[in-house]
Amino acid sequence: MAANLLYNQSLLSVDQISKEKAELILDTARQMRELVKSKGSGDSLKGKVVTALFYEPSSRTFASFITAAQRLGAGFLPLQGMTYSSVAKGENLADTVRTFASYSDCIVIRHPEVGSAKIAADFSPKPVINAGDGVGEHPTQALLDLCTIADHFKNIGNLEVTMVGDLLNGRTVHSLSKLLSMYPAMKINLVSPQLLQMPKEFISLLEKRKVKVSQSETLDKVIGSTDILYVTRVQKERFTDLTSYEKLKHHYIITTKIANQMKKQAIIMHPFPRVGEIEMDVDLDPRAAYIKDQIPNGMYVRMALLQLILLP
Ligand code: CP
Repeated sequence: MAANLLYNQSLLSVDQISKEKAELILDTARQMRELVKSKGSGDSLKGKVVTALFYEPSSRTFASFITAAQRLGAGFLPLQGMTYSSVAKGENLADTVRTFASYSDCIVIRHPEVGSAKIAADFSPKPVINAGDGVGEHPTQALLDLCTIADHFKNIGNLEVTMVGDLLNGRTVHSLSKLLSMYPAMKINLVSPQLLQMPKEFISLLEKRKVKVSQSETLDKVIGSTDILYVTRVQKERFTDLTSYEKLKHHYIITTKIANQMKKQAIIMHPFPRVGEIEMDVDLDPRAAYIKDQIPNGMYVRMALLQLILLP
């Protein structure tokens, strides 16, 4: 068993994840999947408490962290929306984080501002896990996405990944593209409207790491060779001008006709929530991995992360 390099460490960005750490997390997540399937729960984190401090809406990340803690026997402090905490009275992030760190062993934070998880970690004496910081990163989503990809493809290198939708504001694609750049001979096709292109710093980083990157506004030329189609929602909450959002929100809709142009062994992923980018009929396609694989993997990967961060 590899040394636990995650113990007592914050997880703020996928930049902290080496191949060795990724393998450890994925191996542990597979053990968690077996644990849940065989016994439902365990008690390895009995006596530990996890705070979930969510300043932005969430269904999957919030609920999967809470259930991950529960299934390992930990207690949890669920704070969502902040209406009933002292944040509503104007308390700053540093004081909030220091307060909850004194009651618990780990803080999972979602916040609308880029860099907020790092600020939280600077003030917290306990490890902090970034559960999404504005348009910045979503490292635990990228890890569950990697787990899903590893479940479907024996070798993660040499894959052609097409990311489509709001690549400007989508933190999931920011984190996932960086994480995938660790693997050899990856090709990443970035498909978006001009206004929602992947930020240049991410493209430069991918190219520096020898990822083959293509950019286009349509799926036509890449759909047939794609191994993984990663669809994203246009992020309404990041728009200051709702007229632009209305024009762009359904720029891409994945239909069964489009899915049928894909390889037989390809998969279709989406971090969810979806708001019309993939038609419901596509859910019946065996290549649709977003409900049957990504969502449950979210809990197994977060169980693995809590275990690895909280236990030596
Ligand atoms: N993928 C994801 O972060 O979903 P939630 O916003 O529901 O947590």
